[in-house]
Amino acid sequence: RNRQPIVAIDGPAGAGKSTVARQVAQALKLLYLDTGAMYRAVTWLVLESGISIEDEPAIAEIVSKCDIELGMGDEPQAPIRVWINGQEVTQAIRSLEITSHVSAIAAQTPVRQELVKQQQRWGEKGGIVIEGRDIGTHVFPDAELKIFLTASVQERARRRQQDLKNRGEADLSLEQMQQNLSERDWKDSNRNIAPLRKAPDAIEIQTDGLSIAEVTDRIITLYREKVEGQSSTLAN
Ligand code: CDP
Ligand code: CDP
Repeated sequence: RNRQPIVAIDGPAGAGKSTVARQVAQALKLLYLDTGAMYRAVTWLVLESGISIEDEPAIAEIVSKCDIELGMGDEPQAPIRVWINGQEVTQAIRSLEITSHVSAIAAQTPVRQELVKQQQRWGEKGGIVIEGRDIGTHVFPDAELKIFLTASVQERARRRQQDLKNRGEADLSLEQMQQNLSERDWKDSNRNIAPLRKAPDAIEIQTDGLSIAEVTDRIITLYREKVEGQSSTLAN
């Protein structure tokens, strides 16, 4: 194959995809792409423009012309930095307002077509960990390693509540947070195109009770076995 290996990590909200994908990328010296940040940035732009989130043609027009840039923060812990049309939206795209509208916009065909095209372009040389909902099923169905990360909705709500607390943001009750995550998972899993789904050849890791380091180590071990092991046999 004319590219370096690709690691695809998919799963529901709060399963640990972003945190773990970055650490895996760092440990294996691979690039990292957070596709959720792209859908969030487009959602920010739509809300900012005052366009109705149901106005698909107007949104298609905006998306076809938008310029998204992603960059690593200085420290490994810092959130990835995001710009759209030159404006930094790193913090803004994590708000509850964006979070509650992103699934509706991510379900629109022209939005997905455009962002998937950009993701495939960024990943075309491989050597990258890509994280989202449809990476193993749709964006890179030939990825060498596919991981499907899950955790119970209770655990995911607890993690997300902790995230909000750490950022000093509005405190949602655990029930509200569970509701919020479940609604988004339902929309992401039931849309018509490229819904959230485990690829048949993905390896599922249930992360309740596992630390970030434990999940990261498992994925690194799988990479060494399945990707590096495999390519060295092929080379002989
Ligand atoms: O970090 P969190 O799990 O809250 O969400 P995210 O990864 O930032 O993704 C935000 C939203 O973007 C998801 O709920 C999906 O609606 C959409 N998304 C998608 O449709 N396809 C992807 N590959 C990634 C995200
Ligand atoms: O990207 P995704 O929505 O799947 O999840 P995330 O934003 O990476 O993780 C949500 C939160 O859970 C973060 O604060 C992580 O540090 C935390 N987490 C954890 O406590 N234990 C894990 N095994 C994985 C993530």
